[in-house]
Amino acid sequence: MSDRATVEGQAIYSKKVLSIYDFWVLGVSNHYFWKCPTRNISNHFLDYVSHNHLDVGVGTGYYLKNYLPQTTRRIALLDMNRNSLSEAEKAIHSFQPEVYQADVLNMHDLCVEKFDSISINYLLHCLPGSFVEKSILFENLKKLLNDDGVLFGSTILGKDVEVNFFARKIMNIYNKKGIFCNFDDDFESLSKSLNEHFSNVEVKTIGCVALFSCKNKKNHI
Ligand SMILES: C[S@@+](CC[C@H](N)C(=O)[O-])C[C@H]1O[C@@H](n2cnc3c(N)ncnc32)[C@H](O)[C@@H]1O
Repeated sequence: MSDRATVEGQAIYSKKVLSIYDFWVLGVSNHYFWKCPTRNISNHFLDYVSHNHLDVGVGTGYYLKNYLPQTTRRIALLDMNRNSLSEAEKAIHSFQPEVYQADVLNMHDLCVEKFDSISINYLLHCLPGSFVEKSILFENLKKLLNDDGVLFGSTILGKDVEVNFFARKIMNIYNKKGIFCNFDDDFESLSKSLNEHFSNVEVKTIGCVALFSCKNKKNHI
């Protein structure tokens, strides 16, 4: 998959766009278009976040700023976009986050201590290609996860889901502009891809959003 397509998936996140992101995406779009009110994703985050956590594809850091436990021991942010990283870093400044700028599809090994949990909310539908191509991200992230660590997140599916007229229009525009790349993303291929890389895979859908969690496969010698 071309670097150009990868760049397009994150280039939209300027300071201006990030300033309306929570209102437009988490307030309006999740409720009216994707039919998955944000509280579902917040609850999912609360269910799986650990005290040693990495958030990937951070956006404004909404879930971190609202739901990161006060007892958090270590929190790290990873994103390709500098604006997203500084917005999220600002939002949780008091936790003194570690910050990593990297493309999840083209990541050289990050030499950092591993995490007990990793979240990837609304990242997969921004990445180019099918789930087979996107799953390079799973390959890269599982190296950063402790044995028994959990990877969880959410993504907007574009195939075999019911979407209303306005949602379909918006999805088409986003795909045309390279903001989304999810026309081939369906429940089956997401589950298959997660099962190839992880164990204890759970996937459910609310509206056209898939919420998933899975555990690292233990390394058998
Ligand atoms: C739609 S926002 C999600 C924000 C937040 N996680 C949420 O759920 O509200 C997608 C984020 O993923 C980042 N992103 C997109 N493609 C990326 C890539 N290839 N590598 C790393 N980050 C990427 C963007 O910069 C942006 O911050």
